[in-house]
Amino acid sequence: MESEKKPILEARNLRKEFGGLVAVEDVSISIHEHSLHSIIGPNGAGKTTLFNMISGVLRPTRGDVIFKGRNITHLPVHRIAHEGIGRSFQITNIFPTLTVLENIRLSAQAMGKENLSFFKSADSLKQYVAKAEEIIDLVGLNGKEPTLALNLSHGEKRKLEIAIMLASDPSLLLLDEPTAGMSSEQVPALLEIIKKIRALGTKTIVLVEHRMDMVMSISDRITVMHLGNVLAEGTPYEISNTQSVQDAYLGALYGDITNKKEA
Ligand SMILES: Nc1ncnc2c1ncn2[C@@H]1O[C@H](COP(=O)(O)OP(=O)(O)OP(=O)(O)O)[C@@H](O)[C@H]1O
Ligand SMILES: [Mg+2]
Repeated sequence: MESEKKPILEARNLRKEFGGLVAVEDVSISIHEHSLHSIIGPNGAGKTTLFNMISGVLRPTRGDVIFKGRNITHLPVHRIAHEGIGRSFQITNIFPTLTVLENIRLSAQAMGKENLSFFKSADSLKQYVAKAEEIIDLVGLNGKEPTLALNLSHGEKRKLEIAIMLASDPSLLLLDEPTAGMSSEQVPALLEIIKKIRALGTKTIVLVEHRMDMVMSISDRITVMHLGNVLAEGTPYEISNTQSVQDAYLGALYGDITNKKEA
């Protein structure tokens, strides 16, 4: 039963104010382990701000973030990353003058538990390269290993960004609009990557995405945010059949997704 599933992450009454502006008013969300949970909502709804609070980039004005039963609200970003929450930071964590392979390997090494002297051993290096190769295969960057990151196409950079995140071996991935800036031809490849990550069976994915067809097809659950609050939560079926969601958001923004009638 749904209620028996274990939450890996809980946001409890999170609030974030920027001066007089309330970006997130009072948001509580429970994310089940190994699920794919999408967060949708119009521009300015507070989705990215919520991610920023979960990943420690922003300190909440109020509320708590519980990860694996532990309160991580006041931990700094790097500690939260070490706890196992991966966050894509859109290109910024890519080293442009390093190769694809080096970018991924370094990310794996940075999270490695070994001490510095062990880093230098050839065996350890081999192990990180092998891990990087595995991830390169998963995201479909095969053949691009020696390419400098700066020479990648936009779509390839988005793949590298996900690869860098995966290399740090997070148990929870926060993906904020991974298809942003992609052409529609590039979207299926990204969808495949997300499906492969799911198929690993060890990861939980929280996805913020505006492409409704994608969200509806891959999500276990969907939370709809609106003006800094949760407007609705449920399965894709429930969400697409919730009138308030239709009225406030989906209908206006994406057309009627429940009753697509042929003319
Ligand atoms: N650092 C900040 N300082 C001031 N206001 C901010 C800051 N970050 C976000 N906001 C404001 O908070 C509100 C929520 O923004 P947020 O980026 O979280 O929305 P979003 O749901 O991610 O939107 P989008 O779909 O456009 O990415 C917006 O009104 C935004 O202008
Ligand atoms: Mg955003």
